[in-house]
Amino acid sequence: MIPTVEWKNGIVRMLDQSKLPFETVYVDCNDYQTVARGIKELWVRGAPAIGVSAAMGLALGARQIDATDFASFWPKFETICAEMAATRPTAVNLFWAIDRIKQFVQKHQDQSLDAIRSQLVEESQRMIDEDIATNKRIGAFGAAFISDGDNIITHCNAGSIATAGYGTAEGVMRAAVEEGKQIHVWVDETRPVLQGARLTAWELMEEKIPCTLVTDSMAGHLLYRDLVDVAVVGADRIARNGDVANKIGTYSLAVLCKEHGIPFYVAAPFSTVDFNTESGIDIPIEERDPREVTHVLGATPIAPEGVQVMNPAFDVTPARYITAIITEKGAFRPQDLHHLADPKRDPERFRVRP
Ligand code: MRU
Repeated sequence: MIPTVEWKNGIVRMLDQSKLPFETVYVDCNDYQTVARGIKELWVRGAPAIGVSAAMGLALGARQIDATDFASFWPKFETICAEMAATRPTAVNLFWAIDRIKQFVQKHQDQSLDAIRSQLVEESQRMIDEDIATNKRIGAFGAAFISDGDNIITHCNAGSIATAGYGTAEGVMRAAVEEGKQIHVWVDETRPVLQGARLTAWELMEEKIPCTLVTDSMAGHLLYRDLVDVAVVGADRIARNGDVANKIGTYSLAVLCKEHGIPFYVAAPFSTVDFNTESGIDIPIEERDPREVTHVLGATPIAPEGVQVMNPAFDVTPARYITAIITEKGAFRPQDLHHLADPKRDPERFRVRP
């Protein structure tokens, strides 16, 4: 597992995923502005990875603030938090991480600013460790839904580098392999930014998990030919009613799976569940640069200059297409997720098993 983001000698080091699989390059971020830029420009991407990167960026930002007491520190810190929150709108892990850091700072306001600053670094590192542990639990719950010999289809990249480590959807695959199951993964290339082709195929090959790359529009053919047993994807935000926002193209895949009677699983940590968002229609969908559509990886043009473009980065898969949502607390029917908004409820009551 190569680190996605880490704190190193007073700076944040971020894997520049936009260069993968051709170059493995780390960017040294000396200020929170560079971290924010890295999130916006997809150097680091994937909902949990965005969250932990933002937390590290805020730890960096706290050090950049010129203040002598908490009263003058706090409004400046809030401004930095708002800047970080403005980077990407859909992945709720970003807002979850910012809220957690803000609450942490508030809770420690009676301490010296230097103590707060150094504890913020520790807190963001704790978030990294927790995310990896969470993903391993997701993997353990999820592997039970994978049978020996399964052909799995996945979309986008929900792998180790989309998280602090181990991955969510890919964590399920990894855990199944660790249990000794033989699997094969169909990797959707994931237009337009090609996270499947560039990142998932690369990660699976590094892990020696057998995989085959296909374009997004080939999924129907694979399902028609009975070449897929199960679908596993990640999520950027899960609404209270179990609707799931994930990379554009996820919804089409889910509909195809339903048509063919193929189970469709979403693997995600609870930090991706947004109990304050009632349903999928309320999830803000990021609209990205048209150039992602008109050019291949920002370089080769593939459309007439000046063509009108729409480029939503995510879509919403309604809960009825999802067989189960696999989390660190177990796997649940999407319709049952809202019961767990109350942390006192016992998840065991609602768990589904293969
Ligand atoms: O635009 P991206 O690359 O950040 O989109 C990523 C996805 O859609 C992932 O599937 C999702 O964030 C889950 S990552 C564990």
